[in-house]
Amino acid sequence: MIFPTSENGIMPEKILVTTALPYANGSIHLGHVLEGIQADIWVRFQRAIGNTCYFFCADDTHGTPIMLAATKAGVTPDEFIQKVHKEHFTDLTAFGIEYNNYYTTNSPENKELAEEIYLKLKEKGNITARNIEQTYCEHDKMFLPDRFIKGTCPKCGAKEQYGDSCEVCGATYDPTDLKEPHCAICGNVPVLKESKHLFFRLQDYQNELKTWIESKDRLVEGAKKKILEWFGSGLKEWDISRDGPYFGFQIPGEENKYFYVWLDAPIGYMAASKKYFENNPDEFNELWKGDNSRIVHFIGKDILYFHGLFWPAMLMGAEFNTPTKLHVHGFMTVGGEKMSKSRGTFINASTFAKYNDTEHFRYYMAARLGPGMDDVDISFEDFLSRVNSDLIGNLVNIVSRVSTSLLDKLDRTLGTLDKDGIQLLELLISKKEEIQNHYEDKQYHRVIREITSLGDSVNKYVNDRAPWVSIKTDPEETRKVITVALNAARILFTYLYPVVPNATKRLYTMLGIEEEPGFHLLKKHIENIKIGGYVSLSNRPNEKSIQAMIDDTKAEYEKANQANEKTNKTKQANGVQTKMEEKEEGIISIEDLTKVELRVGLIEEANHVEGADKLIQVTVNLGEKGKKNVFAGIKSAYSPEDLVGLKVVVVANLKPRKMKFGMSEAMLLASGNAETLSLFVPHKNANPGDLLK
Ligand code: MSP
Ligand code: ZN
Repeated sequence: MIFPTSENGIMPEKILVTTALPYANGSIHLGHVLEGIQADIWVRFQRAIGNTCYFFCADDTHGTPIMLAATKAGVTPDEFIQKVHKEHFTDLTAFGIEYNNYYTTNSPENKELAEEIYLKLKEKGNITARNIEQTYCEHDKMFLPDRFIKGTCPKCGAKEQYGDSCEVCGATYDPTDLKEPHCAICGNVPVLKESKHLFFRLQDYQNELKTWIESKDRLVEGAKKKILEWFGSGLKEWDISRDGPYFGFQIPGEENKYFYVWLDAPIGYMAASKKYFENNPDEFNELWKGDNSRIVHFIGKDILYFHGLFWPAMLMGAEFNTPTKLHVHGFMTVGGEKMSKSRGTFINASTFAKYNDTEHFRYYMAARLGPGMDDVDISFEDFLSRVNSDLIGNLVNIVSRVSTSLLDKLDRTLGTLDKDGIQLLELLISKKEEIQNHYEDKQYHRVIREITSLGDSVNKYVNDRAPWVSIKTDPEETRKVITVALNAARILFTYLYPVVPNATKRLYTMLGIEEEPGFHLLKKHIENIKIGGYVSLSNRPNEKSIQAMIDDTKAEYEKANQANEKTNKTKQANGVQTKMEEKEEGIISIEDLTKVELRVGLIEEANHVEGADKLIQVTVNLGEKGKKNVFAGIKSAYSPEDLVGLKVVVVANLKPRKMKFGMSEAMLLASGNAETLSLFVPHKNANPGDLLK
């Protein structure tokens, strides 16, 4: 890649960057932050090398789940999404993620663009209509989206599965294929009802899409392969309409039909920029229709399908520029496991920010992020150790060790650079090309490795010259060394600016540099000037804050759990006469009872145990609590085939017991003896992990 400089005549580019629009019915968590930081670093880098780069995002506000969440909160959808918008914006920007506009999909610009694109596709004959039968709840008076219908999997018979796929056998199907379906909102049996739906004929863009996907550098290999797999089974029509009641935009020319949320969501990228350029429509057109712009989307691997097929096809049809690049990242995991609320690892952005320096997280993310789709496993020990040893102990240390009392003794005035010093600075500057390439390719972990290794060289330079010793005998020599060290720090923090913008700005302020940090300043050495008072660029992270953050997260989870339990208990309260009964022998208090953690467990695997005539080994899924291995003495009444897919009641907090055949980590509830033995299965609508109360 050749980058623009004042010398090489390469023209700066115009780039539009977006991150996926977070749903308006959940809080921003560290996974969202990963994406925001990854994109923000790239945006700042582009600006640092002289390109014009705009950065947009918005809340994704439409759809049934948000509509129902508003109802539950007792407010209108509009009020609901406005409140969430404020929170989301605060949470994301607290991590230094700076958008040109963080908008909403429920905007007039988005409505207008969605209609324009739809009508254009319709005009081209890409929209068809036909009647389909869908599950409808007569009680709630609405068609039920896949996730709002539950029932028995038509393939494996597992109970309580969602309307689109079975979590036990992995089968995907239509909600109408579910056996014993029921409405997830009210529990009633839904009916089938016919209604007209509108479809976008994706297959009309089959060839164009294929060329698009295969064109160079559009996607990382893994993502390209994945999309081409979907091609294998042939592209199908995409259902873009939903019947009211629905929170979204009405489809022009139709009665009571709304655009499906995923139709107007990506158009929200355009709408955010349209709003931003409301007084400069030429710029909007140049970006979305011109020949010299780049459109880059940062997304997670779970939404590749929408961004790699539907979205470019819509843009092609409506004659807009298609994305130049889809940057697809993996999922954040903590300590090798999915982020989990009960373990305190599902950390909200606001909770992190309450206890920690968010710029440390930017540094840590940069150190951990590469260009691929692999999941990114973080741990807070690793976070502390990298920030402590590399950011603070190495890079910040270059500044702090020379610019406090040492520099005070020299009237805070720099000297001139000598040959030695210039040589060191040139070594740092010689890595510019390499570092720029790594940023451009999102190889941030390589950027960090390069910069920290340069930091080692600078620290060695300082150590070898020991200015704290020379100050006593040769102040001018000391001044020279400090001048070199601070210029070196200036270069390294200029490189690091996209990652830790605040630390860089603090250094610039101390050194009296007024320009916005940028790579064109690398060679602008500072000499013979008096610099400002010492400011700490960044402080050490605190182990206790991390623990407090985790405790807070756990406490919040418990609180939410207890609130649920409380409502349940008040419902039953009248029937329970605990006060009286506590005094009687053999009677336990409610507190005693809550010591036993009874949960719904889904049996995912069941096997005979060689050499045991009473036992069956089962793997039960306890939702948030993970999976447990159990040896259950139920062989007299059940065979493994009977068990898979069954939901049972499990004592989930029993101390694991070492048995001859392995560890048994929980217990299944059963009654009776060998002949009458029976497991206890939930009557309906229970999720793995649900607590029995
Ligand atoms: N609303 C859609 C996106 C519409 S874009 C036109 C959506 N929202 S989301 O809130 O579920 O996710 C937003 C982004 O965050 C997605 O790119 C998603 O992949 C990413 N992440 C959500 N959880 C994540 C992790 N645990 N780790 C990393 N990124 C994750 O999808
Ligand atoms: Zn219902």
